[in-house]
Amino acid sequence: MSLEVVILAAGQGSRMRSSLPKVLHLLAGKPLLQHVIDRARQLSPAAIHVVAGHGADQVRAACEGQALSWVEQRQQLGTGHAVLQALPAIGDDSTVLVLYGDVPLVPVATLEALVGAAASAPALLTASLDDPAGYGRILRDADGEFRAVVEHKDATDFERAVREVNTGILAAPARLLHRYLPRVGNSNQQREYYLPDVLSLALADGVVVQTAPAESALSVMGVNDQLQLSVLERELQRQRAEALLQAGVRLADPARIDIRGSLQCGRDVFIDVNCVFTGTVVLGDGVSIGPNCVLGDTTIGAGSEVCAMSHLQSARVGSGCTVGPFARLRVGTSLGDEARVGNFVETKKAAIGAGSKINHLSYVGDCDMGGGVNIGAGTITCNYDGVNKHITRIGDGAFVGSNATLVAPVEIGPDGFVAAGSTITRPVATGELAVGRGKQRNIKGWTRPGTTDKD
Ligand code: UD1
Ligand code: CA
Repeated sequence: MSLEVVILAAGQGSRMRSSLPKVLHLLAGKPLLQHVIDRARQLSPAAIHVVAGHGADQVRAACEGQALSWVEQRQQLGTGHAVLQALPAIGDDSTVLVLYGDVPLVPVATLEALVGAAASAPALLTASLDDPAGYGRILRDADGEFRAVVEHKDATDFERAVREVNTGILAAPARLLHRYLPRVGNSNQQREYYLPDVLSLALADGVVVQTAPAESALSVMGVNDQLQLSVLERELQRQRAEALLQAGVRLADPARIDIRGSLQCGRDVFIDVNCVFTGTVVLGDGVSIGPNCVLGDTTIGAGSEVCAMSHLQSARVGSGCTVGPFARLRVGTSLGDEARVGNFVETKKAAIGAGSKINHLSYVGDCDMGGGVNIGAGTITCNYDGVNKHITRIGDGAFVGSNATLVAPVEIGPDGFVAAGSTITRPVATGELAVGRGKQRNIKGWTRPGTTDKD
């Protein structure tokens, strides 16, 4: 039987107090809705229908390029009405799984089980909450069988005492939804078409309605405001840190790491506190990351060490390298094995060969550097003439003295030597020494201006 997923994402989310549609708020660097889509995708559904309304254009644009079937719900007349908009695109023979675009952490296994149970009768995911206020309550008969969902606003005080709530997530045979959803009315406090009313209608016709308990309250928690979003952020980060620990990664503090993308680690990796990982980051065996580092879309080879306060974006670091503390490796930086980039060094579009060293206070951009090169403190590649960017080439074994200014385009040949303080504008051939600085003059008998005799 084929599976059709319907994701409800038309609500405004006014309590977020933001101009961004609620489902586009980021959780671990990814829109809430994308989390839901990614999880749904793991069930291999025939289609994923997204019901959009508030900010529909923006929501759609954020999901561009993905195989999704878009349904517009112009007016938000309730969850039942929302699912009804998606039904025309769904055949009788499938199972429908309804998800909320603002409930991002439901385990895939829970969804799988729910879908599995719903082949012939609807199945509803419920949760027991200490504070069920605001939720639809699950009403059961004396035998504990499901009777109905009653919304908080429609419930009596007695019903409000029930702590078992509707998570909103349900699976049902499509033919049941086709039969009963159009019959759901809106004579309730909110004048809305409630999706769970479908269950009561089916029940009245003798259909069995199943319920399944969620594994935890957090796993089915939705986002209505920034506070709830922050709770889920910590929960997801906790899960990720736990998975890393279980995989053998050593974390100085599992509560102080943020993974906003994917982080893949080899054996014996150590990560100190307050590190942030974005995009796709790969750390090889034995890599050590110091405190307060930010790494985005970066690969680090085995045995390399990134010291405190370093920022690496779209960089590739070989094995046995040392980076930082306080290094900034920008897009297109690649370090060969055993290379060293020290404090207050910025690199961009720089291929730095094996064993080369840029230990202090330098800017190396648009640079093609061989291996075994030594760059002295304060060296700058002047890659920009105000209009265009130019390349600096530095051959194997070259030595660039401190405070050199390499005005690109320029080339230092292999084993070339640049004297400290030089401004280099012309190529330096293999093995040559280039001295490009004003000659020192010492003036004898010179008196400091403003120095007067006090007696
Ligand atoms: C709903 C359930 C309630 C449940 C709670 C769990 C109904 C009637 N009530 O209540 O039993 O305990 O969720 O969080 O189903 N949406 C649309 N179009 C609409 C209305 C809603 O797309 O016309 C979407 C929202 O964007 C949201 C989801 O459906 O993602 C739930 O809507 P919301 O208004 O939060 O439902 P609740 O009233 O909280
Ligand atoms: Ca809600």
